[in-house]
Amino acid sequence: MGPSASPRMREVMGCFIQHIHDFARECNLTVDEWMAAVKMINWAGQMSDDKRNEGQLMCDILGLESLVDDITYQKALKSGKPVTASAILGPFWRADTPTRPNGTNISEDTPEDGQLVYMHGRVTDVESGEPIPNATVDIWQASTNGLYEQQDPNQKEHNLRGKFVTNSHGEYWLYCLRPTPYPIPNDGPAGKLLTLLDRHEWRPAHIHLMALADGYKPITTQIFDKDSAYLSDDSVFAVKEGLIVSFAERKQDPQAGLELKYDIRLARCTETFS
Ligand code: BEZ
Ligand code: FE
Repeated sequence: MGPSASPRMREVMGCFIQHIHDFARECNLTVDEWMAAVKMINWAGQMSDDKRNEGQLMCDILGLESLVDDITYQKALKSGKPVTASAILGPFWRADTPTRPNGTNISEDTPEDGQLVYMHGRVTDVESGEPIPNATVDIWQASTNGLYEQQDPNQKEHNLRGKFVTNSHGEYWLYCLRPTPYPIPNDGPAGKLLTLLDRHEWRPAHIHLMALADGYKPITTQIFDKDSAYLSDDSVFAVKEGLIVSFAERKQDPQAGLELKYDIRLARCTETFS
C-alpha cells in the first residue's frame, strides 16, 4: 500500500488480504473454483438495482451482515447503558418511505389471512429514561404472501411501511400486520448458494424498525414473533434473544385483535462527524 492509504484502510485491507490468501491456501482453492466464485459475485452485481441488493443478500446468508451488526452493537454497549438491541437492515428498506400520522394502518389492503396488530411504544433516552419527542420510527414488513411491496406488483407503492414521529411523550402508534415467516429471494446467486449448501431460505416472522432522533445514534433492528417457526435457524442469522416479542390479545378495538408494545432506547451521539 502507498503512503497515502489511510490507517484504517491499511488495517482493514491488510487483514482482508492476509485472510483471503490463508483461506485459498488452507482449502487448496483451484482456478475453476475461484472463477465460479467470481462469476457468482458478477451475477450478484448484475441482478442488483434500486429495488434489489443481491450482494447484500449474499453477505446475509453467510452471516456477515449479522456479524458486523453485532460487532457494531457491542461497541455501542461499551459506552453506557443498554440501548435497544440492533439487527441487520436487510435489502428491503426504502429511503423514500412516507411519514404517516400516528394511528395509521400501514396495511393498505389487508390480505384475508392477515391479522391486524395495534403496535405502539415509547422512544426514550437510555441514560435519563426521558421521552424523546420528534423521534422518527421507520417501520417496514412483508405481506402474508412473503413479499415486500417492491417485490410484488399486486401491492400498492409503500404498502406495509411508514415513518412515525413521536409525540411530546415520546410515543408512536400504528396498525400493522402480525408478521409471518417468509423465504428470502432464491432466484439469484444467494439462492443458488443456499441450494449448493443444502440450506433452507426461510426467515422467522419479523417487523423491521429504524429509530432516529436529533442528537442520538440511530438504531436499526427487527423484532421477532416468539411463536414463529425458524427462530433457531433464520437463513440470515439475525435473531437475538432480546428481540423476541409477544403479541397480546386486544379487546374492544374494531381495527385489531392483537397488540404489541415495543419501546426503544436511544443513546446520545458523542462523536462528531465533519
Ligand atoms: C429481510 O428481513 O427483509 C431480509 C434480511 C436479509 C436478507 C433478506 C431479507
Ligand atoms: Fe424482512
